[in-house]
Amino acid sequence: MKFFLDTANLEEIKLANAFGVLAGVTTEPTPVVKENVSFHDRIREITEEVSGSVSVAAVSEQADEMVAEGKVLAEIAPDVTVGIPMTLEGLKAVKVLSAWNIKTNVTLVFNANQALLAARAGATYVSPFIGRLDDIGHSGMELIGVIKEIFTQHKIQTEIIAASIRHPMQITEAAQQGAHIATVSFDVLEKLVEHPLTDAGVKRFLADWNSRI
Ligand code: E4P
Repeated sequence: MKFFLDTANLEEIKLANAFGVLAGVTTEPTPVVKENVSFHDRIREITEEVSGSVSVAAVSEQADEMVAEGKVLAEIAPDVTVGIPMTLEGLKAVKVLSAWNIKTNVTLVFNANQALLAARAGATYVSPFIGRLDDIGHSGMELIGVIKEIFTQHKIQTEIIAASIRHPMQITEAAQQGAHIATVSFDVLEKLVEHPLTDAGVKRFLADWNSRI
């Protein structure tokens, strides 16, 4: 399983890239607007920093508008993937964009049928939002496993992005269930490194070294 960073913050992206684990980014316009920078400039900067898919959410509702938006976004850089919501209009847009070899990430996936439809429409990625399912008492992780089973059984190449991740344990579980990618906040990524026994071990090692004769 690979790691994408779920952010529009360039500093976080640079830091995560320095860890050597960053395979892509997922982002949307809202946080960029908050930072008061041009959205397209920020996407360009992100693609220059990251070697891998940069998924950018389209913000229209009609298929033709999503297609127009996607076409402009894809012109920014070859690594740009267009984020499309899982709706009938979204599926129409995925069909057109994939025919033009523009990569798509179908988001807001909450059941296996939606994932299968998105894949058949030509999606490069599907993003089940596991945290939001857990929030309403369903099992996001179980969904990842079911989608993986269906895609494997039917030899579907679409990759599964485990999205809406809230805590480190979900990373282990998503990897066990066969997700291809997990998109995580910088906060969760940092937490993955932490373990009290690692910290204690480093302290002990340094203490031993400093007390040598
Ligand atoms: C990524 O594609 C999603 O935007 C993100 O993971 C959603 O997370 P949330 O449910 O915490 O908003």
